[in-house]
Amino acid sequence: MAILEVEHICKSFKKNEVLKDISFSLEESNVLSIIGSSGSGKTTLLRCLNFLETPDSGVMKVKDKIIYDRFDPILTKDRIIRQNRLHFGLVFQQFNLFPQYTVLGNLTLAAILEAKKDKKNYKANKDVILGEINARALSLLEKVGLENKKDSYPCELSGGQQQRVAIARALMLSPDILCFDEPTSALDPELTKEVLKVIRDLKVSKNTMIVVTHEMEFAKNVSDKVMFMADGIIEEFGDSKEVFENPKSPKLKAFLDNAFTI
Ligand SMILES: Nc1ncnc2c1ncn2[C@@H]1O[C@H](COP(=O)(O)OP(=O)(O)O)[C@@H](O)[C@H]1O
Ligand SMILES: [Mg+2]
Repeated sequence: MAILEVEHICKSFKKNEVLKDISFSLEESNVLSIIGSSGSGKTTLLRCLNFLETPDSGVMKVKDKIIYDRFDPILTKDRIIRQNRLHFGLVFQQFNLFPQYTVLGNLTLAAILEAKKDKKNYKANKDVILGEINARALSLLEKVGLENKKDSYPCELSGGQQQRVAIARALMLSPDILCFDEPTSALDPELTKEVLKVIRDLKVSKNTMIVVTHEMEFAKNVSDKVMFMADGIIEEFGDSKEVFENPKSPKLKAFLDNAFTI
């Protein structure tokens, strides 16, 4: 079943048309890598999926339910957008951890805010709710191999460890689709490996993921599908093996030649 369907998304910044009629779908438990030159619109697409940018037109569906339609007066309300954003988790290139909170604090913050929305329930069951949130955070830290760092602050961790915390944090609210924007491009090769291993483990546990990446070996070997973007359009989309071994678009051929000769 398609977990995500994106139909005709367009986005411009003033006169700069950055996304031009983007449509694709993604099956549950699949990993999609998005590749393409700098400036081709990859980050803007991820930001639209995560409601950090508002598409000018188009529709997004998760599990057959429309979660965004530019022209639907209800779906564009802030409260509904905040709720629908929870379908997605996002891991940024620069980790974006809250420096003033411990690792555990970074993981639990959003979940506690969510729980507090139901004031009555939170007040009546505060200890149980906080206990559950802490337990979930600890189990996710264990999953990314950082349970012994729960009381550390972000500045006390390596870049790779910070990114693994960011991944655990993005999983806290159980998103349907986990998105990564160049999760390893701020890391040196050793730390890149540990982060890519975590993403590979998440694939084994059937997480649906979209990964913008320059790591061509990762895109080829770990992802099920690959999207190649060029100048705001999907220039090529297909099974990863097919895209890498039998690229059709001349732009993709040139991009891959370049990527594999560096
Ligand atoms: N907030 C913004 N305001 C204006 N222009 C933007 C903004 N975000 C991105 N752009 C422009 O959109 C284009 C695509 O950028 P981006 O999505 O970051 O590409 P990529 O991630 O593929 O490098 C670029 O021309 C960039 O300058
Ligand atoms: Mg980018």
